[in-house]
Amino acid sequence: MKTPFHKILSNKRLNKENIVKLLSATDSIERENIRQKAYSIKRKHLSKTVYLRGLIEYSNICSRNCLYCGVRAGNIDINRYQLPDKEVLEAVDYAWKNKFASIVIQSGERNDKEFIAKIDNLLKKIKQNTNNEIGITLSCGEQSEETYRRWFESGAHRYLLRIETTNEVLFNKIHPVNTEINFSKRLKSLELIRKSGYQTGTGVMIGLPFQTIDDLAEDLMFFKSFDIDMVGMGPYIECDNTPLSIYNNLLQPLNERFELSLLMISVLRILMKDINIASSTALQAIHPMGREKGLLAGANIIMPNVTPLKYRADYLLYKDKPGISEKCDSVKSRLENNIKLFDENIAYGLWGDSKHFSCKKK
Ligand code: 5AD
Repeated sequence: MKTPFHKILSNKRLNKENIVKLLSATDSIERENIRQKAYSIKRKHLSKTVYLRGLIEYSNICSRNCLYCGVRAGNIDINRYQLPDKEVLEAVDYAWKNKFASIVIQSGERNDKEFIAKIDNLLKKIKQNTNNEIGITLSCGEQSEETYRRWFESGAHRYLLRIETTNEVLFNKIHPVNTEINFSKRLKSLELIRKSGYQTGTGVMIGLPFQTIDDLAEDLMFFKSFDIDMVGMGPYIECDNTPLSIYNNLLQPLNERFELSLLMISVLRILMKDINIASSTALQAIHPMGREKGLLAGANIIMPNVTPLKYRADYLLYKDKPGISEKCDSVKSRLENNIKLFDENIAYGLWGDSKHFSCKKK
């Protein structure tokens, strides 16, 4: 006899009730069925391909005070850094020579003129140094329309800005909200990013205190209704020296947040067949094969960290962040082996743009 899950999984469209039901799966066979369905969709629409993005954690200097984040402005216990240009270009060179074909520049958020000009200048240099060959995703927070445009014109073509949660009440609980920083502004920023021409990405944290399955279902429905091109989402992991850690007693066990994150990836893949979904580093913080498991749940992007080793311990967004001391070459060969093991191919030398974005443009 078919389980209700099988029936839902064979539906052409998923409504909110269906999504809630799938995300509520606790039985390991049911969860595996959902993952297999998502993975078969990924194979059908995006083939056996995994794209790599070299992740550069450019700076942990941040003007924001997000209550969950280890590099929040108010944290006085960390060394602040900004990579010198030379080291950024060396990291890019590593990615380029190893045919990663794309990089992501992630940074604490700053809106001052110096920072904006610095990123602009770096984008131009990166393009020059790689014969325009490397693809660039930016993840540098909320900026003005003018800045988004400027950076786009200088060579960035994808932008990731996580909404963190689409429940505005929860958003207000995890951010210090004021007239400058609020949920509507975050939404507006996503619209500006899209309007400036970027492939637009967003994402959420999964397993936050106070977050419900209903919230997560709404998050997935938001990605669909906003017609997003890329998603990067992962488990919330408590970080000791942050205000949100007073609610650690409300959290689900880490392995449950992990399972729920895989389910979120799978249900999103079922909802949005041809978008890019990143298998986040936070998955690997919980399970050594976390990112690989994310691929089998329906993700198609992995972002190996190419930041110089000496800075990594200072970009601690959360507890036990992985890859603090692992050299790029060893991560690369481990990923290659694991990915080969389950019969997927790394697409070396290809940008790996969102197929969803390209189809929309046509
Ligand atoms: N757990 C998981 N993800 C986190 N981020 C920040 N702090 C945490 C945490 N404690 C994520 C946020 C942010 C990205 C840079 O890192 O989603 O957008």
